Amino acid sequence: MKYFKYFKFKFSKLYILLIVIFSILSAILNITYPIIIGNLIDKLSLLENNNLISNFIWLGVIFIFLFFSNILLNYYLTSFASKMCRNTRDLIFDKINKLSISNIEKFENGEIINMFSLDIENISNGIIQSISKIISGIFTIIFATYIMLKINVNLTFVLIILSLIMFGISKFIVSHTNNMFSKRAELLANLNSYTEELISGKKTFENFNYMEKSNKNFEKKNSELYKYGYKMQFYSSLTNPSTRFISNLSYVIIAMLGIIYCKASIMTLGNVSTFLIYTNLFTRPFNEITSVFSEIQTAIASAKRIYHFLTIKIDIKKINNTTKLPEKDKYSIEFKNVDFSYTNKSFIQNFNLYIPSGKSIAIVGKTGSGKTTIINLLNRFYEINGGEILIDNINIKNLNINALRKTIGMVLQDTKIFQGTIKDNIAYGRPNASMDEILNAAKLSFANTFIEKLPDGYNTYISNPDMLSEGEVQLLNIARIMLVHPPILILDEATSNIDLLTEDKIKKALLKLTASSTSIIIAHRLSTIKNCDLIVFIENGNIVEKGTHEELINKKGAYYNMYKSQFI
Ligand SMILES: Nc1ncnc2c1ncn2[C@@H]1O[C@H](COP(=O)(O)OP(=O)(O)OP(=O)(O)O)[C@@H](O)[C@H]1O
Ligand SMILES: [Mg+2]
Repeated sequence: MKYFKYFKFKFSKLYILLIVIFSILSAILNITYPIIIGNLIDKLSLLENNNLISNFIWLGVIFIFLFFSNILLNYYLTSFASKMCRNTRDLIFDKINKLSISNIEKFENGEIINMFSLDIENISNGIIQSISKIISGIFTIIFATYIMLKINVNLTFVLIILSLIMFGISKFIVSHTNNMFSKRAELLANLNSYTEELISGKKTFENFNYMEKSNKNFEKKNSELYKYGYKMQFYSSLTNPSTRFISNLSYVIIAMLGIIYCKASIMTLGNVSTFLIYTNLFTRPFNEITSVFSEIQTAIASAKRIYHFLTIKIDIKKINNTTKLPEKDKYSIEFKNVDFSYTNKSFIQNFNLYIPSGKSIAIVGKTGSGKTTIINLLNRFYEINGGEILIDNINIKNLNINALRKTIGMVLQDTKIFQGTIKDNIAYGRPNASMDEILNAAKLSFANTFIEKLPDGYNTYISNPDMLSEGEVQLLNIARIMLVHPPILILDEATSNIDLLTEDKIKKALLKLTASSTSIIIAHRLSTIKNCDLIVFIENGNIVEKGTHEELINKKGAYYNMYKSQFI
């Protein structure tokens, strides 16, 4: 139950109350009309005319009420379900925003997407649709049993026994299809993420001639899905004919016994008709109850998954911290005895680095040496295990996360271009920027040359980042940063895909930008960072050399060797 407490919303109590009321009302009306029909048949068989009209009027009134009660029930059910889906999606989305990258990385690719679609739908179908079936089912059984017992005890017991047989049969079928349902859902999710990977990595697949192998893989996954899919469909389709068979049989048995009782003058013809209608009404909930339970089970499994995701502990302090940085256009940065590991194996140990306010430092080192990791830690994408990181002498742990991120502007190795126009993409960090400011940022980053060649210029809609070259994406990212003017600037391989001539021009523009901020520049092309105030060379997460370009060249160490390999 605790899973569902999580999904409670302000409106839910009123809605649930209305759903309960209309479910009970429908059950009462459903039970009442067979009595009136029985009464009518008795009058007709005896050719009695008195009060016939009032019987018909009552029938009409009941059917009209039943009609509106069902419509209102469906209205409240569907709006409750839709609102619950919307709120749950909001909660999941909000959680995605609040969770750290390391938390998100623990989930498989398609898992979170499935929560948005499959799991939410399961909860909606299972719980919401089942509420009314269970409530009206229980009330129908209680009311109908009461009235049937009043008409004929023996016939009531016969009907209860037949209904229990029917319940047994559908329970047997449902328990067999249940496993298939969850297996099929699992296979479907797996196939979805495989297809997604196949589409996004199509070029790599084709280049490595992996298509044939991937076709085989897909074929295997698809045929397994087919096997479970059709088995599940077939077994669940057995429920209907089997229960209908018993239901028809019940009809015949009740009719036969009814006629016997009628002939013995124990029952009237009207009583038998009422009973026959009840046979249908009474057996339906027994029929439905098993499928409702399996739907509820699926819903609980989905709710557990979402609940698990929504209750992952987040560092509340991280979001609610009120500490903000003083308004400045540059800050100092300090890493003090920082320890960090992605896994159990320690990666960064006792890392110390001081970047004075307004200075630019370069981090260089071999692939995998930990350059991007240091940037990740400064952004609090990952939490450090020991030591502290200070901006303007304030521990970033005490800073409001939004304030922290606002201070830092980054062009990363894999910065994303989002669906939207070029203009929107440049204005990503400052949505209210004027067109002049956007044009200026594009000019400073030399992105304007390629943008002006696009069919709709700044209004060109980017539906897929592959529409742009990697260098063009980097130019757009630099334009984004030029517009934001962050006090701390981080460039991680920001110009690696841009031709040397343009890179040179951008460097000059960036120099202007970095002159007014504290900056960390990571680059494999060492020509880019020659003029930085300080260069640190790292290996396995630790600084092995530190100094200006000239100092490090004279030292003839690791930096010198790397530089030599590029220029000499
Ligand atoms: N999310 C992660 N989970 C586990 N290990 C990671 C993760 N990200 C990076 N690593 C590992 O940490 C090490 C440092 O990675 P990092 O991205 O900091 O290297 P880098 O110096 O930026 O390399 P490059 O020059 O290729 O960009 C690598 O060995 C990498 O495999
Ligand atoms: Mg990197």
